[in-house]
Amino acid sequence: MSDWSVRRIHRIREMTYAQQYLEIGVNKGDTFLHVQLPRKDAVDPAFLFATEPVASVDVRFFDITSDDFFTSTAPRSSYDIVFLDGLHTFEQTLRDFIATLPLAHANTVWLIDDTLPCDVYSSLPNLMQSLQQRKQAGLSGDPWHGDIYKVPLFLHDYCPNLDYATITDRGNPQTLVWRGNRRPFESKFTSLEAISRASYFDLENYAECMRYASEDEAFNLLAKAVSPRLESSLDIFSEKT
Ligand SMILES: C[S@@+](CC[C@H](N)C(=O)[O-])C[C@H]1O[C@@H](n2cnc3c(N)ncnc32)[C@H](O)[C@@H]1O
Repeated sequence: MSDWSVRRIHRIREMTYAQQYLEIGVNKGDTFLHVQLPRKDAVDPAFLFATEPVASVDVRFFDITSDDFFTSTAPRSSYDIVFLDGLHTFEQTLRDFIATLPLAHANTVWLIDDTLPCDVYSSLPNLMQSLQQRKQAGLSGDPWHGDIYKVPLFLHDYCPNLDYATITDRGNPQTLVWRGNRRPFESKFTSLEAISRASYFDLENYAECMRYASEDEAFNLLAKAVSPRLESSLDIFSEKT
């Protein structure tokens, strides 16, 4: 079980008083079924467990692709936490991320899985090719992260008012994303195509764009960004009541 995902999602929940959760790519439900939040939406074209016994008005399952979900009337009007763990390609994960932007608010937090491949084989966006090349190299195992590592590179250059950190300890690497102005903003790549072409071996030149952090460092950064916003919204609430 990927208990690091559940732990990190619960850490976000503690910090933001989150209620509404969206998970893209759910598989056996190792994360989804263990996340404790009042309202949860799960999207996967091929769930590997019986969803009916768990489904309710508050816990909803959509056995469709993320593209079909986002272009339907199914999404709630906003989500507090979004966990992106669907198809392991840059293009699809980026599309999933962009599709959630209109469903976000100032304190929405995203967790994007698999943003740092463990080796070059794992970084190939084609699963069959990744497995074949690993086997040909005489290596065992089947880790597959795909080229989602390009998403933090995209965030770096194209989302100056989003902040993020790529967590590298205590479990699978994941990127935590929140609203925050990165100043002074400076882009790194000459084009979007340069990001699209970035290889696993190029990553050593892009540490500043990946914004590597320990889990605790990442959550400290998140706390610094969201706490003042939450305090001011709580102040407004208490003034009204
Ligand atoms: C790595 S698994 C998800 C693991 C799960 N989040 C967890 O923490 O246990 C990836 C899942 O993404 C699903 N998937 C693949 N393409 C997808 C798409 N276009 N939209 C949504 N889910 C997709 C697969 O069916 C698979 O179950």
